[in-house]
Amino acid sequence: MRVYRKLLPTEAPLFHDHLGRLSPDDRISRFSGGVSAAALIEHVRRFDWRTGWLIGCFEGGRLRGVAELRWLDPGFGWRAELAVTVEEAWQDRGIGTELLRLAVIHARNRGLKSLYMICLTDNRRMQAIARKFEGDLIFEGSQVEADIAVPFPTQFSLLAEALGDSVSFARQWWAPLLGSNADRN
Ligand SMILES: CC(C)(COP(=O)(O)OP(=O)(O)OC[C@H]1O[C@@H](n2cnc3c(N)ncnc32)[C@H](O)[C@@H]1OP(=O)(O)O)[C@@H](O)C(=O)NCCC(=O)NCCS
Repeated sequence: MRVYRKLLPTEAPLFHDHLGRLSPDDRISRFSGGVSAAALIEHVRRFDWRTGWLIGCFEGGRLRGVAELRWLDPGFGWRAELAVTVEEAWQDRGIGTELLRLAVIHARNRGLKSLYMICLTDNRRMQAIARKFEGDLIFEGSQVEADIAVPFPTQFSLLAEALGDSVSFARQWWAPLLGSNADRN
């Protein structure tokens, strides 16, 4: 069973372990360069849960993908930085696209106006996803910056997030009762 839901601050170790399971190439793509084990620990430790949000994709109860949102210049600007990671064996199944869709809803409902992403020029997957959300791509040297406009919140976007949270909560708690068949969905 696949469940998309926000992570709680107490679940920071799951985020760290997910980043640790990325292949070396994917880790370079995510951080635009190599990162040591110590740097990964520091990255997770410095995540500010008051101005940042993590949306996770769980498969069979394990975290396999994350959309990481960091509000840039909280209280002044209305822009957030976004990074998406999906473990190699789970790529090309639409998870990155769904995480970005949820990140846009989340940002929208908090009044943010745009999402900013940065990736390497050879990262065709990330660029393909950004284009689906009409992101403006700017190529500069070895990097690409993508700006995705976030629409104004509406009752429907608020309802979409609330319903999504409720369904995820129910699915997560029902999964153990439904047994292993649930993991095949
Ligand atoms: C980038 C990343 C998040 C994408 O996640 P994903 O779950 O594989 O993405 P999706 O399956 O939703 O979509 C991938 C899209 O890229 C397309 N794609 C895959 N390989 C491609 C290639 N070589 N050239 C062009 N498009 C490609 C797929 O066809 C798909 O598009 P479609 O849905 O229209 O068919 C994932 O590859 C990842 O974690 N990479 C490492 C970390 C990273 O680079 N993060 C981005 C920087 S912050």
